[in-house]
Amino acid sequence: MEFSHRIAALKPSAIREILKAPSDPDIVTLAAGNPSPEAFPAAEMAAIAAEIFQNDAPGALQYGISEGYTPLRERTRERARRNIGIGTESDDLIITSGGQQVVELAAKTLLNEGDTVICENPSFIGALNALRSYGAKLVGVPCNGAGMDMDALERALREHPEAKMIYTIPTFQNPSGEVMPLPARRRLLELAERYDAVVLEDDPYRELRYDGEHVPAIKSMDKDGRVVYAGSFSKIIAPGIRLGYALAPAPLIAKMTAAKQVSDVHSNLFFQILVERYMARHDLDAHIARCRALYKTRRDAMNLALGRHMPGAEWIVPEGGLFLWVKLPGGMDGTEFCRRAKEKKVMAVPGSAFLTDEGGFSDAIRLNFSLPTPAQIETGIERLGKTL
Ligand SMILES: Cc1ncc(COP(=O)(O)O)c(C=O)c1O
Repeated sequence: MEFSHRIAALKPSAIREILKAPSDPDIVTLAAGNPSPEAFPAAEMAAIAAEIFQNDAPGALQYGISEGYTPLRERTRERARRNIGIGTESDDLIITSGGQQVVELAAKTLLNEGDTVICENPSFIGALNALRSYGAKLVGVPCNGAGMDMDALERALREHPEAKMIYTIPTFQNPSGEVMPLPARRRLLELAERYDAVVLEDDPYRELRYDGEHVPAIKSMDKDGRVVYAGSFSKIIAPGIRLGYALAPAPLIAKMTAAKQVSDVHSNLFFQILVERYMARHDLDAHIARCRALYKTRRDAMNLALGRHMPGAEWIVPEGGLFLWVKLPGGMDGTEFCRRAKEKKVMAVPGSAFLTDEGGFSDAIRLNFSLPTPAQIETGIERLGKTL
């Protein structure tokens, strides 16, 4: 069968493939990007779910509107204004099937085949693949320990003044864990204005901060409506519900809505109602504070275990998010290292999986600390040490 040009070169995400590996209970996986099941408010959700089925099944099981369940849209908008300081009169919000769909809808609405998108290199595979699937030409800009390197971004824009979009994960970047400081965020916005590029700010980890101070979102400084903000409920409630949102200028949200209608009509209405009621009755901020406490302990456990078992490796302790990005000593090949680590029953993701240039070399690996318990972290890192 001959596939479309759009999809022919697209490979399944290396991480999704790894997650499909046969389940041997002795394997420790540090590869996923999953939140801990301990962080799911399952009991509260079960009570609300029972109530919805009992009292509101006709509405919850019916078709909904594509922009999203109105009370959830309003509540999400209000929370984004209060907690992140984003959303103006001219902005609108659409509920999506995860933050992933925001990238997909933004690509579908704004990019033509062959358009240039500048992004961090390495970056989130799901987004890179979404952009690739619409024929985007990816231009990678390295991170410099503080997110995307702004001098390198300026050079990239000089070389590609035609760039349509800058895709960035400024807070606890996936996979590097880095945070773009405020002056860099301002400069990114100035450069985007100068070169007339749209900024896609992907921010699913913002609320998972364990140390340090919040840095204002790029969207909060957006004066001329060029920033599309992608939010997600995956890491603060649960990823299986597949809910996220885009906050962007109203005309763009209208187009994204039309694009969503041909994708999935609307996001799962039952879960939209459930999340809205959860937010109305429970203190989501307090729930997130408990998640932060859980993940901070795990991040610290992984940092200590790396210090004990991985001599010569280098990493920066991230102030938040779910990942530790570890550079292997002596320019070791991350892909080969992960293959051998799997033989020792520990799974990590090779840095090469996150590169804009597929098949490129990376001496880094990405480790997740939210899903494994502290005991699994110790075992897993000890096995990585043996692999080393
Ligand atoms: C940077 C980034 N953006 C978006 C997503 C997608 O998340 P979801 O679609 O579950 O909201 C992820 C998930 O890992 C991510 O790391």
